[in-house]
Amino acid sequence: MNSSASLPPEAELDAPVPPIHVAIIMDGNGRWAKKRMLNRIKGHEKGAKTVRTIVRASREYGISMLTLYAFSTENWQRSKIEVTALMTLLKHFLESEQKEMVDNNIRLNAIGQIERLPKNVQQALNRTMEATKHQNGMMLNLALSYGGRAEIVRMVQRIAKKVTGGVIDQEKITSDVISDHLYTKGLPDPELLIRTSGEMRISNFLLWQIAYTEIFITETLWPDFSEDEFIQILKEYQRRERRFGRVDI
Ligand code: FPP
Repeated sequence: MNSSASLPPEAELDAPVPPIHVAIIMDGNGRWAKKRMLNRIKGHEKGAKTVRTIVRASREYGISMLTLYAFSTENWQRSKIEVTALMTLLKHFLESEQKEMVDNNIRLNAIGQIERLPKNVQQALNRTMEATKHQNGMMLNLALSYGGRAEIVRMVQRIAKKVTGGVIDQEKITSDVISDHLYTKGLPDPELLIRTSGEMRISNFLLWQIAYTEIFITETLWPDFSEDEFIQILKEYQRRERRFGRVDI
């Protein structure tokens, strides 16, 4: 299929096509703080500022969906002080950014074991999701107490229950049925996954959803990640797409 058949070649080359869905593993807050002889929490605080910058840049660049790995199921094993600090930062972020999200037409969504979050964080999350539920310029999707394997276990349990109850015929279980039983039901898979701080790992993030996703790893620590570097990666992604995505050569 040649979907660009009606476009003149120069128009196709010039048209920037931003990815619809970008996912980010925000890593390196601790190392950023350590390099400066600061407490790890200072790294998370600076990291939260980077979140604001990248959300704004995504909206301006025309990305439809941004998924951020903000807290993993494994992160519960960190010290109580660090977990509490991350939860406080998250609550503060939700409260302070709600107006900005509404003004910029951004809808907030969350994926993960939301029921494990402290009650006051759940309330803040629900308030911001409710306040932004009609916004349709971009979706900010926060992965909170999220783990890809836990998501897959939950999906299998839900489908098995439906099979046992006669709601689904086991022969009718397809990729689409599986996708529909994940936290990301109804959301497109990310075309681009960025990981900061140089680690070559997926760390239990969106295991099912990234089957065909382009991956970019940058050495930059998350608190130092800038709008400029983000845009460079988006442009590089668009170049990769042009080189390898074509079917009409
Ligand atoms: C990884 O750094 C980052 C996290 C565990 C959490 C990400 C949280 C934020 C960016 C701040 C708050 C989030 C929001 C949405 C306001 P790390 O601690 O694993 O770094 P290290 O690998 O260098 O130790």
